[in-house]
Amino acid sequence: MASARNPLELRREIDRRRTFAIISHPDAGKTTLTEKLLLYGGALREAGAVRAQKAARHATSDWLELEKQRGISVSSSVLHFEFDEHRVNILDTPGHADFSEDTYRTLMAADSAVMLIDAARGVEPQTRKLCEVCKLRRIPIFTFVNKMDRHGRDPLDIMGEIEEVLGMEVVPANWPVGAGSDFRGIYDRFERCLMTFSGGDHGTHRVEEHVVAGEPDSEAVMEAMGPFAEDVVEGLELLEGAGAELDAGLVASGAQTPMFFGSALTNFGVHPFLKRFLEMAPGPVPRVSSGDVIDPVDHPFSGFVFKIQANMDPDHRDRIAFLRICSGQFIKGLQTLHIRTGKPIRLTNSTLLMGKDRTEVDEAFAGDVVGLFDPGLFRIGDTLADEKQIGYAGIPIFAPESFMRVEVAGVQKRKALEKGIEQLVQEGVVQLFRDPEGGSASWILGAMGPLQFDVMKHRLQSEYGVELTLSNLPYCLARWPQAGFDPEDFRYSERIRVVLDRDDNWALLAQSSWDFDRLLERNESLDLSETPDPSLFESAN
Ligand code: G4P
Repeated sequence: MASARNPLELRREIDRRRTFAIISHPDAGKTTLTEKLLLYGGALREAGAVRAQKAARHATSDWLELEKQRGISVSSSVLHFEFDEHRVNILDTPGHADFSEDTYRTLMAADSAVMLIDAARGVEPQTRKLCEVCKLRRIPIFTFVNKMDRHGRDPLDIMGEIEEVLGMEVVPANWPVGAGSDFRGIYDRFERCLMTFSGGDHGTHRVEEHVVAGEPDSEAVMEAMGPFAEDVVEGLELLEGAGAELDAGLVASGAQTPMFFGSALTNFGVHPFLKRFLEMAPGPVPRVSSGDVIDPVDHPFSGFVFKIQANMDPDHRDRIAFLRICSGQFIKGLQTLHIRTGKPIRLTNSTLLMGKDRTEVDEAFAGDVVGLFDPGLFRIGDTLADEKQIGYAGIPIFAPESFMRVEVAGVQKRKALEKGIEQLVQEGVVQLFRDPEGGSASWILGAMGPLQFDVMKHRLQSEYGVELTLSNLPYCLARWPQAGFDPEDFRYSERIRVVLDRDDNWALLAQSSWDFDRLLERNESLDLSETPDPSLFESAN
């Protein structure tokens, strides 16, 4: 049984934690990279196990039957391992764009993000969206340019694209030596050494790294780079002359991104990336709660729920609330306060998540994520703390891009339908809106994409025994008015629909961004936001 740590130990434990999410467009190699990080972290004995686990989960899970049918990942979890004195927590997120809301929420719990870019494809739409969320939260973003073992774009070209499209200064931490089947290593700009790779059995094992210290144009380094020497020296000279210098402050605020090159598939460059990333990435930083700054070490236990997931384990029909610990130490049996309801709760039944596996948790620290068995008490955004005045800003709501109207057929099933929808909305499966006048007959569901509606239908049927019938609505954008808004102005509007969100905030649904642009042009006092409470972003960090 764990006991309270002394202040020194507590600081050491918290400082060594690194909690991050990997953001990328589907197919950039997130699963492959995650797997290799686990391999280097000793959490996997052989590569391939994550995919194997995915397959095993497909074989046993039932509501995740949908994952199997579609070959997509709907659910996500937390992965953790120890590496170089660090405790690493990877917040795993589903890959498909339709579930990006889940990823956005998870980013609220991360202290940094790894942005994975396919060397041939550059910045893709999903990466751009996720990067925007990271930038709003001002968390540091570290870029890993993947698939260097294939012929991709010129590294300078990728740098330029990131700077232009994502608006971040790029500082390469290393520079690739060779590309495609000739990709043989990296030059580390900070350590001033060349690192070449060999072996690795095409990614199933750790690669061998050979280090040659020296400036790029030194004889030893030039010789080791062989036919690529001139290109590399030229590229590095360009960077030294015209490139930005690394600035820890700019990295911390997300204005500058350190960039690494490698191949997750062959393991080339993964180990040096992991080492350097863990050195540079921040541990848990102070967070703002109700106007106060909560220091992760000095303040006793507190945290917030960023995700709720039901039926992760088909053998136990339970709900797990994912709690990001923001300060202090968690000890099994801890007595704390559920701030929203003001009720004291004892955390006796908590679990540490590792993919689909769970182990009972005895102690955890700021930076860690624990799973709380949830009898229906928690909502996304809830704070747990020992003091009433603490309240971490809720998880922002992100504007859905697809809307459907709920068709309520018989009165008999209506109650079950309403209960099911309300619970799944609480879990964040979809968002709920309604017409200002009218009951559940006027319910509108909002999602990022059609797969989210499919999950909703599937779960309503398997868990609540009700069929959900939906009809299409023509809207694809939502905005929340912050000022200059009168619902009466829209009474006869055909292209813009006024609705209420689940917290009774006014929201506007439109068929295109052109509609909002025109509206804003005509009404100068109107202020529209992409989220009901934009201040949540500022106070989340
Ligand atoms: P995701 O989670 O981001 O969607 O991507 P995932 O890791 O599943 O990788 C997508 C595809 O890209 C996979 O190929 C994977 O093997 C490949 N890949 C990942 N990293 C690298 C890399 O560094 N170099 C190269 N050349 N390929 C890479 P697939 O054919 O779709 O699947 P599989 O047959 O390999 O399982």
